[in-house]
Amino acid sequence: MSGIKMITLETPEDVGRLAADIFELEIHAKPTCVLGLATGSTPLPLYRQLVARNKAGRIDFSRVRTFNLDEYEGLAPDHEQSYRRFMQENLFDHINIRPENTHVPDGLASDPQAMFAEYERQISECGGIDLQLLGIGHDGHIGFNEPGDFFPPLTHDVVLTEQTRQANKRFFQSIDEVPLRAYTMGVGTVMAARKIVILITGKDKADILRRAFSEPVTPHVPASALQFHHDVTLICDRAAAGI
Ligand code: GLP
Repeated sequence: MSGIKMITLETPEDVGRLAADIFELEIHAKPTCVLGLATGSTPLPLYRQLVARNKAGRIDFSRVRTFNLDEYEGLAPDHEQSYRRFMQENLFDHINIRPENTHVPDGLASDPQAMFAEYERQISECGGIDLQLLGIGHDGHIGFNEPGDFFPPLTHDVVLTEQTRQANKRFFQSIDEVPLRAYTMGVGTVMAARKIVILITGKDKADILRRAFSEPVTPHVPASALQFHHDVTLICDRAAAGI
């Protein structure tokens, strides 16, 4: 494995707790920090920890700014399966973050290209992302950067692979309701973050964890780009580590 720090813990709850420690330290060190946030099932134990620590007075989000990785194209912010709603329900509604300090790509943007440029501009204006949280898809996607022939540099639109739509259909009534396209930060946007924490849990992620971090870097496994980042912490459970 490259220079990535890999930490293997017993359970997904342990992974969430350690990740929360890293977020807590970051916010204490820089109360105005800029966080890159992710959706999916994997970060949920972390978000539960952050909510509990905020309620306990341990973490103050009042000056923190956040940028989410991605959003489904065509879903309104209040749509049941939108990533904006996911973030509201699992984190933002339960902590003292200012709504105007939270950013999620707009699934209903009338001019997506302008929205992408504006998203990148806002990240730069905030001074760049200090700490980026990631999960991983079964095909190695980060955000919604699907396998391809190059690493997309900036926020852009993507056609979701059949595998990703199948994996995410559990949140929808049927596969037909899963959007065909999405908006996502680029691999370059992610790589520009000062620090990256990637969480990987579950036996079904063991194969992609190995391919992404123990095999050569390739855009056919987008997460493999992280091998070239100078400050990545990979926190996984034993199941994902294959032990
Ligand atoms: C989606 C998200 C990714 C996430 C992935 C894995 O595709 N766009 O950001 O990492 O799902 O999700 P899970 O953690 O539920 O396996």
